Amino acid sequence: MNIEKIRQGARGNIGREILFYPVIDSTNTAGLEKALTSEEGLVILADSQLKGKGRLGRTWVSPPGLNIYMSIVLKPLIELADATLITITSAVACSIALRNISGLEITIKWPNDLMFQNRKIGGILTELKSELKKIVFAVVGIGINVNSELKDFPEDIRRMATSLRNETKKSFSRTEIIIELLNELNKWYAVLASDREIIIDKWKELSSTIGRKVKVVSGQETLEGIAEDINEKGMLILKLLTGEQKKIVSGDLIVLS
Ligand code: BTN
Repeated sequence: MNIEKIRQGARGNIGREILFYPVIDSTNTAGLEKALTSEEGLVILADSQLKGKGRLGRTWVSPPGLNIYMSIVLKPLIELADATLITITSAVACSIALRNISGLEITIKWPNDLMFQNRKIGGILTELKSELKKIVFAVVGIGINVNSELKDFPEDIRRMATSLRNETKKSFSRTEIIIELLNELNKWYAVLASDREIIIDKWKELSSTIGRKVKVVSGQETLEGIAEDINEKGMLILKLLTGEQKKIVSGDLIVLS
């Protein structure tokens, strides 16, 4: 990874300051520690993570030399109730950046999985600090499987995971991908500040979830139905088999058919 080249290539607020660690526990944990005292747009990159965090308390396997582990500190002027839009916006930016770089049709599985066909190629973990319904800061963690081969993934996720290299049989420059990611993130965060409808529409265009029969595990509840839409806050609108509509803020989604 060429950090100097990334610094030169990143145009805009996100990436104005970049910290790089050869090894770290988790770039998100570091982001949470530094967020209060840092400017918006701080980017933390690592070559490997010892305690990479996935959503819902899972581990994000983060071997050295292969993939992208990146966190971004944001201080968006939006209500806490709209926080999902931060993840939605990040997913749009990441999916477009990865399409531009690889030519693969990378889609988004609600809320924030980056997919190629039915395998996961990347994920986003947004962690927040809020006060009185306002967001103090958000740390957006992005993990992209770039040059991992299937043998590099633990056996239990090998069936569900993939990487850019595994799909194209080519290896990719992490530096080039990070520059593309930062530029798309800068562009789409500016759109979030001005017109969130554009983000929601773009998300729907890139999503592989809408219109599918899905199962959603949300807290203690497991629901099945058709993923009809997402609303202006990024919530999933699920039409249950009974015909009833449910709005879901967060959860784990499995596409059934
Ligand atoms: C998911 O479960 O899909 C979210 C995965 C997020 C992984 C990234 S890697 C960089 C950042 N640091 C972490 O500890 N996690 C996120």
